[in-house]
Order: sequence, then C-alpha cells, then structure tokens
Amino acid sequence: MKLPNVEKTLLLVDDEADIREVLTLALADLGYRVTSAENGTTALPLFLDIRPPVVITDIKMPGMDGIELLSRIKAADPDAEVIMITGHGDLDLAIMSLKNQATDFITKPINVDALEIALRRAEERIILRRQLKAYTERLEQLVQEKAALKDHLSSLGMMLGSISHGIKGLLTSLDGGLYLVESGFVRKHEDTVEEGWQIVKQTVERIRKLMLDILFYTKKRKFTFTQVAVGTFCKELADEMVAKLRRRKIRFRPLFTAQLGAFAIDADYLRAALGNILDNAIDACETLEGESAGQIDLRVTADDERVYFEVRDNGIGMEPAVLNNLFTVFYSTKGKSGTGLGLFVANQVVEQHGGKIRVRSQPGRGTRFRVMVPRSPLVEA
Ligand SMILES: Nc1ncnc2c1ncn2[C@@H]1O[C@H](COP(=O)(O)OP(=O)(O)OP(=O)(O)O)[C@@H](O)[C@H]1O
Ligand SMILES: [Mg+2]
Repeated sequence: MKLPNVEKTLLLVDDEADIREVLTLALADLGYRVTSAENGTTALPLFLDIRPPVVITDIKMPGMDGIELLSRIKAADPDAEVIMITGHGDLDLAIMSLKNQATDFITKPINVDALEIALRRAEERIILRRQLKAYTERLEQLVQEKAALKDHLSSLGMMLGSISHGIKGLLTSLDGGLYLVESGFVRKHEDTVEEGWQIVKQTVERIRKLMLDILFYTKKRKFTFTQVAVGTFCKELADEMVAKLRRRKIRFRPLFTAQLGAFAIDADYLRAALGNILDNAIDACETLEGESAGQIDLRVTADDERVYFEVRDNGIGMEPAVLNNLFTVFYSTKGKSGTGLGLFVANQVVEQHGGKIRVRSQPGRGTRFRVMVPRSPLVEA
C-alpha cells in the first residue's frame, strides 16, 4: 500500500560513512529524499533548517549521541518521528529511547524490510495526526456553527415574541379607535368620530414605525445620505409631535431656530431614530401618576461640525438597571405595548451617522437624551 501525501524528506544520522551510503541508496529506492549527517551536533541544525517529518539516527555516536539528539528534536518538534538504530545488545538504550518518545527502533545489521516497516509506521502516525487535526478543526467549526445557529434561532424567537406582543397592543388600540368611530357615527357624535379617527391614524403611524424598526433589524439597511437643512428636519419632527400630542395633556416645547445650517443624513432613518426617543418621552410622561403635567422639550443646537438634539421629559425616569439595558435589542419594560426595538434601532442609526447618544435619568424625575450627529458622516454606511 502506498501512503498518500506524506512529504518524503528524511534526515539520516550515523557516524559510519558506509552505513550512511548504503542506507541512503536503500531509502532513495523507497522514494525518500535523504539528507545525512555524521553525528548529533551536525544533525540538529540541519533538522531545524529542513524540518523533515522523519529522522533515522544511530544511538551510539561520538559527540552528541542519538539519545541526546532525540530529546533535542522532540523538544523542538514533538511531532517529529524519530527511528533509532541500535547495535546488538543495546536493548537498554533502545528502551530508553522509546521512553523518550522514539517512534521505533531497528537493529544493526539493518534489514531493509524492517526499515520499511518502521518507516511505514512512522508515516501512518503522521497521517493519523494530520487527520486528527483536520477532524478537530472541523469539529471546532461545527461547534461554532451550531452556537451561531442557536443564537440566531433564539433571537428570531425573541423577535417574533416581542413583535407579536407589539402587534397585539397595536390591534387593541386600533379596535378602540374603530369602536369610537363606529359609535360616533351611530350616535351622530362628531367629536367621538374625530377622537376615534385620531387614534386610528396614530396607530397606523405606530405600525409604520414598527415596520421600519423590524426592517432595520432584520436587514442591514443601506443608508442614503443627502444634504438636509437642520431647521426643516426639526420642524418636521416637531410637527409630528404636535399631531401626536393633540389630545394628550402633555406640553411640548420645540426649542430651536431655523438658522442651524445643514447636515448630510439619511432623513428617513434619523427621523425614525429621534421619533423613537420622542415616543419614549411621551410614554414616560403618560405613565406619570396623578395630575402632574407632562412636559417634553426638544432643543436643537449646532456648531461648525455637529448638530445636537436634546429630548428632555419630566416623566417616570429610569432606574440604573433600565439605563444599563437601554440599547439592548428587545429590552422593554412596557409589556404588551413595547417591542424593545426603538432605542436599539435609534442607537444603530445614530452610530451609522457617526454620532452618539448620551442619556441621563432620575427615577421619578425625568430623562434627558442627548443625540450628537456630525454634519457629515465620518463613517461610510
Ligand atoms: N424617556 C424615557 N423615560 C423612561 N424610560 C425610558 C425612556 N426611554 C426609554 N425608556 C426605557 O427603555 C426601554 C427601552 O426603550 P425602547 O424604545 O428600546 O423600547 P420600548 O419603548 O419599550 O418599545 P418600542 O420598541 O415600541 O420602542 C423602555 O421600555 C423604557 O423602560
Ligand atoms: Mg420606545
């Protein structure tokens, strides 16, 4: 049987020139490229230089003997296969070399068949070791793939659960709006129709936002940066807030001027990101106990290089545990009415604009989000 793919380089070490000559010929017949040396001292640098997978060495040599050479080779390369040549009656030395990790030993005078068998054993060990290494690597790869798949499945499960929750909440509020519209029609009560209609419109808006968040989460979106006037962008954000707050007790103050210059952004995504932060401020104020009036400020300032959005609310605020998980995907304290995608998406969007979000909050007192967006994105989206 011919053994596949083992590099047939071999280092032969013996102090007797005749033996080196005869063995080199025999080994060449077996297909080996042989380099030879006359003792351990000359053999070691040769070994380190050519790194043959197999070494055949005499044990008894002047200078560095075979045992010493064996241990030096094994120290440099534990995988090297070293076959020892022993004289008659050197059984003790042979056993000592086997203890020192020699592959095999053959006795003088050398029988070529015995040599071939020893070499074949060495080659089989080399091949086995390679296969084992390949299997181990494959196994490691499989284990990694399995872990990735598990992660993927569990985040998919979490996403489905969270989204179903969100949609359930949205359906409840759509039902509520539709009920008002319907009963308003029946009773010819225009205000009730109007109230219901506003709820329907707002819920549709929330569904749109949820879809945008989900799309953002499931696909790596490509951003399209265009030059936008900061004032116009802020005005749109503020108008949206005013519409949302029409029938609520929350006071909203847009605090910015039209003279804020321009910045290069993906307006749809950045609007959604800031919208998510503003929505949270609304939720935080609505959860306020008692009659205390909710207040939300949107302040926008800018310098030569950056635009700063500040969203301040006097709502429920956050405990440190909530603050620490703010940007974690699917983290929500809102039960049915939150998916926990809002700030995760907002953070990603702002980061992809080269910006940063900073948050300060006190339980019971309120929260301040600060969003810095560079005028031109430093990172390529
Ligand atoms: N202004 C705020 N005041 C108090 N808590 C806040 C505020 N903003 C965020 N949070 C907390 O952070 C959590 C995560 O917010 P995030 O917007 O990611 O999810 P969500 O609002 O629960 O759901 P949705 O995906 O619908 O936005 C919220 O559940 C809430 O506990
Ligand atoms: Mg939110």
